[in-house]
Amino acid sequence: MGMKAGGRGTARARALALAALLALLALLGACGSQATGQPLSAIHANADSWSADAVADADCLGCHNGAALTRATQGYDGADDVNVHEPPATGHSPTACASCHRVEAAPVLACNQGGCHAYTLPEGWSAQG
Ligand code: HEC
Ligand code: HEC
Repeated sequence: MGMKAGGRGTARARALALAALLALLALLGACGSQATGQPLSAIHANADSWSADAVADADCLGCHNGAALTRATQGYDGADDVNVHEPPATGHSPTACASCHRVEAAPVLACNQGGCHAYTLPEGWSAQG
């Protein structure tokens, strides 16, 4: 009896481990899905509630961690002091998320607009928008 229960427990543990592994693989697949170059609406089920390109940064930062974003793009394009998520205060008007990440269109590297900078564009991004 004790052995049988143990056997069931082991099978259950194996099933759980398998489910966890599959969930992890699904997660890795989602992250590695190369979302780069996609409009936000293609990667966000909740994008229906966002009007064209007038989304508030606070909406984005409710899910995305601002400090983590800053860390992710520090040293952008191989330049130590460049960070698309933390432009220097001088000469840069507040840069809304949607000035680069567009809801319905491919993302635009706003830094390059008007010929101000010439940073390398991530795949699928455009320089003007
Ligand atoms: C309801 C939560 C939620 C909101 C609100 C949200 N996002 Fe996301 N976003 C996610 C999730 C989940 C993913 C997919 C997982 C990931 O890559 O972080 C994602 C992915 C992304 C990606 C692709 C990331 C990559 O790995 O290439 C970008 C860019 C992005 N979001 C920008 C935004 C911007 C800009 C806003 C505001 C308009 C926003 N998000 C609002 C949850 C959200
Ligand atoms: C000046 C342009 C610009 C602005 C403004 C901007 N981003 Fe980004 N963002 C980028 C670039 C460039 C990348 C890197 C994309 C790549 O390499 O595919 C990026 C990457 C991301 C990613 C993926 C990060 C990762 O871990 O790989 C998310 C999520 C994101 N941005 C959300 C936001 C949110 C939220 C805001 C507003 C608070 C914002 N961005 C403002 C240009 C910008």
